[in-house]
Amino acid sequence: MGLLKKDLCDTTDLSDSALQMILARAQEVERQPLSRVLTGRKIALMFLEPSTRTRISFQMAAEALGAQVVIVDPQTSSVQKGETLLDTVKTLEAEGVHYLVVRCSTAFLPHLLARETRMHVINGGDGQHAHPTQALADVLALARRVAPTQDIGPPSVISRILHDIRILFTGDVRHSRVFRSSADLFRRCGAQIGIATYPTLSCEFCFSFEGTQKFHTLESGLSWADVVYPLRVQKERLADLPFASTEEYYCAFGVKSLRKHQWLMHCGPFNRGVEVSSALVYSEQSLIGDQVRCGYLTRVALLAEMEAES
Ligand code: CP
Repeated sequence: MGLLKKDLCDTTDLSDSALQMILARAQEVERQPLSRVLTGRKIALMFLEPSTRTRISFQMAAEALGAQVVIVDPQTSSVQKGETLLDTVKTLEAEGVHYLVVRCSTAFLPHLLARETRMHVINGGDGQHAHPTQALADVLALARRVAPTQDIGPPSVISRILHDIRILFTGDVRHSRVFRSSADLFRRCGAQIGIATYPTLSCEFCFSFEGTQKFHTLESGLSWADVVYPLRVQKERLADLPFASTEEYYCAFGVKSLRKHQWLMHCGPFNRGVEVSSALVYSEQSLIGDQVRCGYLTRVALLAEMEAES
């Protein structure tokens, strides 16, 4: 019996053993030549919302493993003629596609599609709900920075690496699928979670992770944190902004400086001079490039493990 489910729609689809297995495999990707385990398999990328990192890393991962990649462009697909997404998915299935990566603005759409198809469905980010592969990338990126030479292979190692690391999320926690998924995996790996933002940019659910700390100012949160993780203010999901201008936001919650040995994470896309200062983005204390690299490594590992268990 395998460790993975047919689909990856949420971090809850990953058991601790499955998480450990994917992270260990991702670490191996840079250590040995890839075997083209997806030769003869087809992967469809159906991105109904903009994406750079997730779409490109899935495409590169699939191609590196030997798969044929099919891009479903919503602007030129028959969805424009009134075909439903479910019928598009059924069409892809009939075309012989094995894996479907979906990015969409509707929460739980990947779950609904997964129930209706034999294809393996992977959630590439659904509305405000979940972004499980970003969470895998984030955990690996942080683990590699905390313990660069540590082998993740043996069971429970990831929890020892991240144990009691304090991660402060700032900004638009309320509307963030990345917060929901990454905070879940960080917490399961033993890290502590804190939130510093405007009350209207968080919600009760955000504090449902056991032990989540609340900070009313950025400064109090920063003095607690080992890692600060600003989240983009998602104007596309907000009717009213809780601040008058981006200058006001930057003044109150923009991350402008870090303590020595404090790290910056951001899933991207980031807005320089809004949630984070331009100078910090690619500074030595930033893990942003590592997160992107780990996005590729963990997606290779996920696809390879899914194929191994299919
Ligand atoms: N982090 C992330 O999901 O980035 P993209 O929207 O560019 O894929």
